[in-house]
Amino acid sequence: MNPISIPSRKNLQVFSGRAYPELAEEIATYLGTTLTPQSAYEFANGEIFVRFEESVRGADAFVIQSCPAPINTWVMETLIMIDALKRASADRITVVLPFYPYARQDKKHRGREPISGRLISDLLRAAGAHRLMTVDLHTDQIQGFFDGPVDHLFAQRLLADHVATKYAGQDITVVAPDSGRVRVAERWADRLGGTPLAFIHKTRDPLQPNTVVTNRVVGDVEGRLCVLVDDMIDTGGTIAKATAKLFEAGASDVVIAATHGVLSDPATQRLAECGAGEIVLTNTLPIPPERMLPNTTVLSIGPLVAQAIHEVFKDGSVTSLFNQDKDDESEPALTTVPAE
Ligand code: R5P
Repeated sequence: MNPISIPSRKNLQVFSGRAYPELAEEIATYLGTTLTPQSAYEFANGEIFVRFEESVRGADAFVIQSCPAPINTWVMETLIMIDALKRASADRITVVLPFYPYARQDKKHRGREPISGRLISDLLRAAGAHRLMTVDLHTDQIQGFFDGPVDHLFAQRLLADHVATKYAGQDITVVAPDSGRVRVAERWADRLGGTPLAFIHKTRDPLQPNTVVTNRVVGDVEGRLCVLVDDMIDTGGTIAKATAKLFEAGASDVVIAATHGVLSDPATQRLAECGAGEIVLTNTLPIPPERMLPNTTVLSIGPLVAQAIHEVFKDGSVTSLFNQDKDDESEPALTTVPAE
């Protein structure tokens, strides 16, 4: 027998949905590549069509899709892109969802409710995704919804280092807007050098989506700069009410830090009126100019996602990206910088 062999090689290809191509382009640039060209459009009845304009056979494919509103359209487009890659013989498909859709529906609060966060993972898997990469899940357990490897990235270092630099020397208290976010606030407090913690006791009416009743502040905030941390700002109700409670309790100022700026109406108005000194977000979702306030800061998640993709591609370690000490200023592994 005379077997034929070829040296094994992998091709990294990056694909972008249409929801937020700017972030995908930034990630591709950091990786030193470009997006694979594609055609995508809707039929008259709203059905989505996608075709890749180059071969994807054997590709290590990374499909990047942020899911702002209309979220269901972008979820469907992602599934269709994955299906197209599977049927065109991509070798491995990693779906990169910087904002995981339906994450808040991660459990049944009452009988006869869906667990839509799980459904999203099942759909991604059924379409053909082998891996999932995402940033700051609403709850860590959602990692278990996807039946395959999940790379769960954290924006905390990016956000916390901005706060630590800008507000160095101030008396900071890290505040969780509800009891569910206390563990995250603890990690923030550690990163900021062991600051005190506080949280807002909050209740929700399960019959009213996006409706919050804030009760009281637990912890010492008087005369202190409160760094209010959350995973997302949707309508801004949670964060605006928490900010009001903190000022009532004597906070000297409030800095809001959240990973995902969903910013559904009336979030912009609420944030403008709440009195917070700064609102720090990342660009896991697009923040259109009309939703940017003079005191909004948007930090790019692009370099972190690009590094994680690079690690996955070369069978390296994503965990290593989060193990660096805060005083370790050494260069990250991937040093490609965006082109001018
Ligand atoms: C709640 O558990 C989440 O972490 C956010 O606090 C919430 O979803 C934000 O929604 P909204 O801005 O509409 O209050």
